[in-house]
Amino acid sequence: MNMIGIIGAMEEEVELLKEKMTDTVIVEKAGMKFVKGNLKGQTAVVVRSGIGKVNAGICTQILADEFQVEAVINTGIAGSLKAEINIGDIVLSTDTMQHDVDAREFGYPLGQIPRMETLAFEADENLRKLAKEVCEEVNPDIQVFEGRVASGDQFVADKETKERIIENTQAYCTEMEGAAIGQAAYLNKIPYLVIRAISDKADDSAHVDYPTFERQAIRHTVNLVSRMMECL
Ligand code: ADE
Repeated sequence: MNMIGIIGAMEEEVELLKEKMTDTVIVEKAGMKFVKGNLKGQTAVVVRSGIGKVNAGICTQILADEFQVEAVINTGIAGSLKAEINIGDIVLSTDTMQHDVDAREFGYPLGQIPRMETLAFEADENLRKLAKEVCEEVNPDIQVFEGRVASGDQFVADKETKERIIENTQAYCTEMEGAAIGQAAYLNKIPYLVIRAISDKADDSAHVDYPTFERQAIRHTVNLVSRMMECL
């Protein structure tokens, strides 16, 4: 590929990838540092978007406009929404949707943005297949799942909210950026994939588990994304 964009919301999620890059040039825009260079033989732009859907959407649009990326990968951590998806496991997005969009008053299903024709944003199947193969190779001890990712401007850390999101979205995990990247990628007709390692169970234990397992979870996504670059 000519250029691939890699977004992480937090510095911890992208710093190890940036360390692996060579021939880097930094471009600053909207308060974000876009690090362009070579990542394992692939030209790439790695960027910390900041947390939340608005930051992630802006970041994706800049990747499209300024760097003409041919694909976008969002890497990071998430809360599990399924009992069998454990801390450290990986979820690859089949699609993404926003669990906090509510225009039911106008007859739209929960999650659907009024006057947009789609409820969820389809992720790229080829990127997902590659990620699955590579994940089994580089992270053989963990499980990799393919399913929906639900995003919202909310850190989910209680059982009631978790249950509500599961019922409304049937998602496998929840985080705060994936569907905004999905929406921006959809509008720009750019293939994308969300890759998330589980840091917590998005329930009352999340406050304890999140800081404990954040680093370990990130290592799994970094291994996966950097090996993917060699295969693109
Ligand atoms: N990212 C990691 N864990 C999360 C959670 N429980 N809710 C939202 N975003 C997250």
